Amino acid sequence: MRSTDALPGLVVLTGAGISQESGLATFRATDGLWHTERIEDVATPQAFRRDPARVHAFYNARRAQLDAVAPNAAHLALVELEREWVARGGDFLLVTQNVDDLHARAGSERMLHMHGALRRARCLGCGATLGWQGDMGVDSACPRCRRAGGVRPDIVWFGEVPMHMAEIGAALEGCGLFVSIGTSGHVYPAAGFVAAVRDRARTVELNLEPSNGAALFDEARHGPATRVVPAFVAELLVR
Ligand code: APR
Repeated sequence: MRSTDALPGLVVLTGAGISQESGLATFRATDGLWHTERIEDVATPQAFRRDPARVHAFYNARRAQLDAVAPNAAHLALVELEREWVARGGDFLLVTQNVDDLHARAGSERMLHMHGALRRARCLGCGATLGWQGDMGVDSACPRCRRAGGVRPDIVWFGEVPMHMAEIGAALEGCGLFVSIGTSGHVYPAAGFVAAVRDRARTVELNLEPSNGAALFDEARHGPATRVVPAFVAELLVR
């Protein structure tokens, strides 16, 4: 890339597919999380009110798994892209639907978790959101207000409002390049980002197979993220 070119604002959206090769299950694959648990049982506010212990067990198992996995080449390629893009004066934002910590552990900094994070908790008593390691349960006490029994995963459940939408909307407004990685395009508002930017941005899908929104993208590179993401980043940074 010629250094005199003004870089377009770059927004990258990721989904479960970018973490699949690190060993974390996706949601809608045949062996995915929503084929072993029902969303209605573990990922809605009603489910938490009805059976909080079952919801805690679902997220405790996923949080414990984080200790056994590591970022992969796709996560690391996005860190290189972020650093180079910013060094060359471009705006960069990584928006992830994932609640795992692999982007942060890879070194991503300009990143927003729009569906929350496994290693964070929220107190229903005082409203505090705080880091959380290890299991969470119906008797867990809030480290800030000390109230026991009112701590929930800081995860956006179905029917709840995704996080950081104002900041994400501003980044989409100014973006000239939108790259979607490892997401099936089933869940809104993330699935609607490409439609929102396609009249002003170059849109690229990097996914194992065509997503639900594939027809809305200018370009697509299909294959495993650990192959297609580093290749795309290398191509983008040398132009
Ligand atoms: N490399 C690239 N893409 C992959 C890989 C891989 N190794 N493995 C799977 N994929 C792709 C699949 O083809 C699929 O299109 O990743 C996508 C994963 O789709 P989903 O399982 O639906 O996950 P995601 O799109 O992240 O789900 C969005 O739904 O349930 C909610 O909150 C949850 O954030 C999640 C949201």
